[in-house]
Amino acid sequence: MKSEQVQTCAAWLAAAKTVCVLTGAGMSAESGVPTFRDRDGLWSKFNPAELATPEAFRRNPVKVWEWYRRRRAALAKIRPHRGHELLADWEQQVADFTVVTQNVDGLHHRAGSRNVVELHGRLDVVRCVGCRQERQTLEDLGEDPRCDCGARLRPGVVWFGEALPPRAFETALEKARNCDVMLVIGTSGVVQPAASLAELAKGYGAKLIDINPQRSELSGIADVWLEAACGTALQGIDEVLRGPGKRP
Ligand code: OAD
Repeated sequence: MKSEQVQTCAAWLAAAKTVCVLTGAGMSAESGVPTFRDRDGLWSKFNPAELATPEAFRRNPVKVWEWYRRRRAALAKIRPHRGHELLADWEQQVADFTVVTQNVDGLHHRAGSRNVVELHGRLDVVRCVGCRQERQTLEDLGEDPRCDCGARLRPGVVWFGEALPPRAFETALEKARNCDVMLVIGTSGVVQPAASLAELAKGYGAKLIDINPQRSELSGIADVWLEAACGTALQGIDEVLRGPGKRP
């Protein structure tokens, strides 16, 4: 990460009236949440076809729930890091600032961000496959939990092959089309339609900044690729934004 790049990103953000941040698993890595496609990521140890599809859940709900129970239990032990807090802080400084996340850990909310669009649902939400009622709970519901209506409960996340929550995706599209700057943080950019939001923003004229210690599918189309962990990169930008005569 070069200091001129950080200066450029800070200048774009300082001038922007509308900012859209697209986050992926790398955003939570510094909070201790494993990513999916890094060398020791979840998909190197687990098969998504057996754990994260509607067919897998129909075939073996107990196995799918076992994996989600573990991931839900891990939520209690993690906290947002400085990078999450800086995004929450920047939301207060910019007229229209939205975080669109693929993450299901709720860390942006916990850090204080208000305008958060969750494209892939939440680990702490459960939904009835029958009456479709949702509720937020981190209680351990057992190995094959049921709704009051008698139907099976499922994790409130989006699985492979499923559509994104329509309202969340519409909001994300609208923010991507209208932002002055899109900040892409910690995503490999291989999962659609989330990744297409970056291309859309760029096509509509936004400056595109990619923060990722590894080259991603989106680094190549970014105006600036900050090759760094997000905590470091966001802190670097924040220091420039708060520099002499800038934000308090
Ligand atoms: P991936 O695991 O595919 O990508 C994580 C990205 O974060 C990689 O490009 C890493 O280089 C980067 N990274 C790692 N540590 C970082 C750090 N400290 N700072 C910044 N970047 C870092 O995760 P996603 O792109 O989020 O979907 O994956 C997208 C979707 O695929 C997930 O939401 C999930 C998964 O299957 C579903 O479960 C539906």
